[in-house]
Amino acid sequence: MAEGRVRSGIDTLKASPARVYDYLLGGKDNFEADRALVDRLAAVLPDVRRAARANRAFVGRAVAEAAAAGVTQFLDLGAGLPVKENVHEIARRRRPAASVVYVDHDPMVVSHARALLQADEGVTVIEADLRRPGALLSDTELARRIDFDRPVAVLLAACLHFVPDEDDPAGIVAAFTRDLAPGSRLVISHWSGGPDPVADAAARNAYRRAATAPLVDRDPAWIRALFAGFDLLGPGLADVLDWRAVPSGGGAGSSFRLLAGVGRRPG
Ligand SMILES: C[S@@+](CC[C@H](N)C(=O)[O-])C[C@H]1O[C@@H](n2cnc3c(N)ncnc32)[C@H](O)[C@@H]1O
Repeated sequence: MAEGRVRSGIDTLKASPARVYDYLLGGKDNFEADRALVDRLAAVLPDVRRAARANRAFVGRAVAEAAAAGVTQFLDLGAGLPVKENVHEIARRRRPAASVVYVDHDPMVVSHARALLQADEGVTVIEADLRRPGALLSDTELARRIDFDRPVAVLLAACLHFVPDEDDPAGIVAAFTRDLAPGSRLVISHWSGGPDPVADAAARNAYRRAATAPLVDRDPAWIRALFAGFDLLGPGLADVLDWRAVPSGGGAGSSFRLLAGVGRRPG
């Protein structure tokens, strides 16, 4: 990708979580600053690329589970740059009329997603900051696409660890899920540190110095508590590598632990 300084609100000299993830997944929508951060991360957390791929595969399995259970509405918060298999493509294998709203605050995500995805009927891309749920939940485009009286799958995959404590991530999840109808899904994956606290600290420092957002690890109990008001589907809160995956020999011992869960609103 051609390098510049700031184009259309995109600062190419700072790493962005969306572009870093794109590079981790082998994509081309990234700049030198993003690649340099990945190199620093991989030096201390050698499994970080595998964890990114496993996270994306988890998103696919979670969306497929929701669609198989009859969910036809998907709200993908912190959606990221388009990938090979996007949420609407996975959902529509089971539910051809599924509505999908992609939300991100990264201008490059929004421009690429609008160009590539929004041509599809029933797919909407909204530029918004998930740290302001009130503003997003009163967005007229969201209201046009998502009927909150019917089940919705709310996805918060690999994005809450970019929300610092002072922005109250648990309160954000509660705001997005408070009024969800029975049968709705809450899909979350979140960095939970790894076996080496020194490596984790180096990863946090690398983000703090070079990226547009901090990287915050949280413990399993904190992540599990986000599912209050939901029944955690089997296998519960698990490593992304293990959440309903074909066993790969990964998971245990991984240097980069992403925990994942899917909750179902009972009733
Ligand atoms: C690592 S990517 C994950 C993409 C996708 N959810 C997945 O799991 O495959 C994190 C995404 O969250 C977005 N994000 C982070 N903080 C956000 C915020 N406050 N508001 C909206 N999007 C945010 C980033 O821009 C990025 O696209």
